[in-house]
Amino acid sequence: MRRPLPIKTFSIESNPVKPNLNRLPKRPHAAESVFDGLASSYAIFNENPMVISFRTQVHQVISRFVPAESRILDLGCGPGSDFDFWASRQDRVVAIDASAKMIQLANSHNPKHADITVKHATLSLFKSERRFDAILMNFGVWNALGNSEEVHRQLKSLLAPEGIIIAVVMPPLHLAALFEDVLRLRLRHAKSRILERYSTTSSGWKFRYLSAPDFVQEWSILDQQSLGPLLPSPDQLGRIPLARSWLRLMEKVDRWFGAQSQLIGGDHIIFVLQAK
Ligand SMILES: C[S@@+](CC[C@H](N)C(=O)[O-])C[C@H]1O[C@@H](n2cnc3c(N)ncnc32)[C@H](O)[C@@H]1O
Repeated sequence: MRRPLPIKTFSIESNPVKPNLNRLPKRPHAAESVFDGLASSYAIFNENPMVISFRTQVHQVISRFVPAESRILDLGCGPGSDFDFWASRQDRVVAIDASAKMIQLANSHNPKHADITVKHATLSLFKSERRFDAILMNFGVWNALGNSEEVHRQLKSLLAPEGIIIAVVMPPLHLAALFEDVLRLRLRHAKSRILERYSTTSSGWKFRYLSAPDFVQEWSILDQQSLGPLLPSPDQLGRIPLARSWLRLMEKVDRWFGAQSQLIGGDHIIFVLQAK
C-alpha cells in the first residue's frame, strides 16, 4: 500500500510584487530571520516524500564524488537534515548555519557517534584553519548566498586543492511552478523568477535563482542532475491533489529525464563543481 502523502507543506513564501531594491533590509544576514521563522516547520518539509526522494539522490551523487571519512563543510546545515548520512559514512564534518533556531535543532539532532561540529556562523564570518575535501550546500543554500565574486572567493578559500562543491540549487525554470503561475495569472512572479532570476519574500528578503551560467566562469562542472524536472514541487504536492496523481504517473520517466537533460530546469538541480 502507498503511504498517504502529508497534506502540510513548507515553502519560502514569495511576493510577486517587484521589490523596491533601495528598501531591502540593510542587515547583512537577513536570511537569519527568514530561516529562524521556518525552523519550526522544517521537519514537515523533510518528511515530504518528494524531499526524501530528492535527498536520497543528492546522497547518491555525494557517494559517487566524495570518499567516505572525508572532511566536509555542511554549509547552511539547517536542522541537521544530512547528519545521519554523514554519520553513516564516518565523515569529519563542520556544520554551520546563519539561523540560531536551525542551529538549536541541529545540535539536538547531532548523532552521538558522529564527528560533527555544529557552529552558528554565516559563510562570510566563518574561518577554518583546515580546508575541506567537500562543501555541501543542500536545498537552496546558494540561492540564499547570492552570486557575488565575494561568495565564490570565500568558497574557494575553504576548499582543499581538488576539493569539490555539491550545490543543490533552485533554478529559474521549473515547469510545474511556471504552469501554476500561468494558471493563477501570476505573470509578474513568473517573469521575476525566469527572466530577472530572483524572488523576494514579503519581508523584503531576496533570493536568487541559479543555473549553470552562474558557475562556469569560476568552476568546472563535473556533473549536473535535475531533481523533478517534470514533477510538481514538494510544496505543490502538499497543496494540489492533482499533483499527486501526476507524480505517480511521471515519477520513473522524470528520474530518467533528470539524469539526461539539464535544459529544462527542475525543482532543484544538483551541481558538482571544482574550482578552475
Ligand atoms: C533551505 S535551508 C537548507 C537546509 C539544509 N541544508 C537542508 O538540506 O535541509 C537553507 C539554510 O541555509 C542557511 N543560510 C542561508 N544563508 C546563509 C549564510 N550566509 N551562511 C550560513 N547559512 C546560511 C539558512 O539559515 C537555512 O538554514
